Amino acid sequence: MNDKFGRKINYLRLSVTDLCNLRCIYCMPQEGISKLHHEEILSIEEIERIVSAAVDCGIEKVRITGGEPLVRNGIIDICQRVARIKGVRELCLTTNGVLLPQLAEGLREAGVHRLNISLDTLNPDKFRQITRIGRLDDVLNGIQKAKEAGFDYLKLNVVLMGGFNDDEIGDFVDLTRDSNTQIRFIELMPMGQCAEWERSRFLDTSAVLKAVPQLQLAGTEGVARTYRVPGYKGSVGLISPISNHFCPTCNRIRVTSDGKLKACLHSSGEVNLKGLSGDKLKEAIAKAITSKPQSHHLDAATPSETGRYMNQIGG
Ligand code: GTP
Ligand code: 5AD
Ligand code: SF4
Repeated sequence: MNDKFGRKINYLRLSVTDLCNLRCIYCMPQEGISKLHHEEILSIEEIERIVSAAVDCGIEKVRITGGEPLVRNGIIDICQRVARIKGVRELCLTTNGVLLPQLAEGLREAGVHRLNISLDTLNPDKFRQITRIGRLDDVLNGIQKAKEAGFDYLKLNVVLMGGFNDDEIGDFVDLTRDSNTQIRFIELMPMGQCAEWERSRFLDTSAVLKAVPQLQLAGTEGVARTYRVPGYKGSVGLISPISNHFCPTCNRIRVTSDGKLKACLHSSGEVNLKGLSGDKLKEAIAKAITSKPQSHHLDAATPSETGRYMNQIGG
């Protein structure tokens, strides 16, 4: 269905847990955040019910997110059940990749079409610094296993941080030379942990075009503007929520792992879906879509109004 600004809303980002096995410095505090009780988290049945109702309201694409979705018990079962819902044309998942060696094959068999994997640096020491507890090799191994399992078009998400990884832009773009992969550079959004960071950490994605002037505009894919180095197999995506709001073409809604529908990532507005079923559930979703805000008011100096950490929303 359309919202009141005429945007067709057909994409649901569904968070299945707020827990994560990493602690990225821009996303989560070191000690994690207060845990939700088991009964506050959407059950598999509730997830199924919500996705079915969302499909009735026009949703065609579902992306499973977290926290880290692969730490959720029964994640394969969840994917399988969502994939089977009639009307779900595309099922995707965004992960940090750490658990892909064990789970990639199961996800593929469950019906997941595409994976996006977060990878902010190619340097093992910096990886540890950014994730506080992670090992780069685990993610590289996860990427390899995902390819072996048949996920042959991967998108790798790189959150750009001035003074952290802007010196690696060229190395990341080089990964697209021989591989059908999209490297996506994302502008850091001031929310939760990084809201108070110094301004120099917030880079505009134009830094990528400056670092690699051979990149040529190829088109758009979702929220990304895509570029290619001529002759390279893969592509580069630039996601610019700060310098180039994509709100006018936004097609998505989000459901948090405790069952709150957020019509906009950066708004504090939430509609409870937990405990609802049948027409009540559909009405709640439809009402939230209708009242989706026109745009966010984010810039590097104006933090998100969301009131949640990123791991509680799922990006
Ligand atoms: P595709 O299905 O491959 O197009 O994936 P996607 O870009 O929708 O999903 P992904 O989880 O890989 O998100 C990539 C980045 O874009 C994350 O940093 C998200 O936080 C950010 N992002 C996704 N949707 C939105 C949005 O609606 N608004 C803003 N500001 N950022 C978003
Ligand atoms: N700004 C931009 N991207 C972020 N992510 C997490 N927090 C932020 C932020 N503040 C990214 C993750 C992952 C995706 C789901 O969201 O790195 O790629
Ligand atoms: Fe975990 Fe993703 Fe947040 Fe990193 S960005 S701590 S991987 S939820």
